[in-house]
Amino acid sequence: MYPFWEVPHLTSGLIIAMIASFHILPSHLATGAFWFMAYIEGKAINDNRPELFAFLKRFSLFILVFCFVIGSLTGVGIWFSATVASPRAISGLIHNYVWGWATEWVFFLIEIATIYAYYYTFGKVPPRTHRRIGLIYAWGAWMSMVIITGILGFMLSSDKWIETGSFFDGFFNSTYWPQLAFRTAGMIAIASVYAIIVAASLEKGKVRYEIIRKAGAWGLCALAAGALFATWYLNALPDNSKELIFQDMIPPLKTMLHVAIGAAVAVAVYFLLFGVVRPQLACRSFGIVMMLVLLAGIGAGEGLREGCRRPYIINQYMYGNQVVARDLEAKKVKGEVEFFQEHGLTSRLLFFPDQLRIFPEEHLAKAGRIIALHQCGNCHTMDQKGIRPLPGLLANLGLEDAESIADFLDALGEYPFMPPFAANEDEKRATAAYLATLIPAGE
Ligand code: HEC
Repeated sequence: MYPFWEVPHLTSGLIIAMIASFHILPSHLATGAFWFMAYIEGKAINDNRPELFAFLKRFSLFILVFCFVIGSLTGVGIWFSATVASPRAISGLIHNYVWGWATEWVFFLIEIATIYAYYYTFGKVPPRTHRRIGLIYAWGAWMSMVIITGILGFMLSSDKWIETGSFFDGFFNSTYWPQLAFRTAGMIAIASVYAIIVAASLEKGKVRYEIIRKAGAWGLCALAAGALFATWYLNALPDNSKELIFQDMIPPLKTMLHVAIGAAVAVAVYFLLFGVVRPQLACRSFGIVMMLVLLAGIGAGEGLREGCRRPYIINQYMYGNQVVARDLEAKKVKGEVEFFQEHGLTSRLLFFPDQLRIFPEEHLAKAGRIIALHQCGNCHTMDQKGIRPLPGLLANLGLEDAESIADFLDALGEYPFMPPFAANEDEKRATAAYLATLIPAGE
């Protein structure tokens, strides 16, 4: 076990989620935008309409600056935060998918090279060659999605991998195709909002309205397809995830689903009214508001994907608190719950203070705090307010003294969304003693 990263009120998981949601906007925009570009550029070349190039140049500059600066920074941010928050999960992923990431980075390099080549060769190479550079970019960017979706899907539904340990069994899992289709539709919708924002900064006139109308139509089709793919995706989820969402076992998950659907509907209405029907009404600031609505929808969708994975961080294999859930013979990995219950979690906590290892009564709660952080802190804050605050949740159940909390810990694994308590008797006593100190007096 590695040291624990405690983020007061928020939990470390939420930090990753915030960075990841913000990463989706530039990354999906960068992936979707060039398909629309290629379409408009095709029109500019085939119908001999040089005036469209002004739009194309503006459109690609922001992608180059915004997506590649913010996208790369937040991408690295996900790696940093996830490595500190869930080092064992990252290690598990790397042990399985290092070649997946290596391949993704090859495509990422292609993206970077071609977007610079594209922007700086406007008007300097034959138009068809220029468009082909854009298409290589669009293809490279989408290929990186093709790969990363396999790894994301694997965390949600590991399927046969849990028996075979095989790269492709985990990669082409049951949520892979619907998720790829859904993300592809989503990237076109994001790109369409962006196209409207850029086009709305052009001079009023035919070109501006034509592009806005086309972007509205693209966005509308993408959202319609996205709705179908989303249904397919939700259907393909593992049974446990479906129960968590649809049987209200974790009520906030349904709220997130509703927020995501609401955002998609709002943007669809926008595409219809301000894109297809009355492009004259589209303006930049309202477009930006719509982008923020999309961002809220994305955040909710991501929260849903992460949330319905509980109690696991890697489906069936590793719990949210970094404990290996079961034996994986193909990889010679042993499940750890029983081991920790017998030999103690602290036997694997190298940073655990030596003087606490005998669990002295006077420092019991101090020892318990470290164990509680490791066992519960990924999903719960220990503060009074914040993400699933333990003091309030325990008090709600009427658990106020160390004995009743210890009994509760014994039964933890019976919840469909929480891992079993993986520590020995002394450690349980210490954890319960600490958790009892959190309950506000008189509640
Ligand atoms: C993998 C994530 C995860 C871990 C680890 C985890 N929990 Fe939870 N816990 C949840 C979720 C999700 C809920 C549901 C909260 C909600 O309804 O919003 C929950 C709910 C609870 C509740 C309220 C239960 C009820 O019936 O109302 C308590 C109490 C609780 N957890 C205690 C703990 C303790 C103590 C630990 C550590 C020993 C722990 N949890 C570890 C995810 C987790």
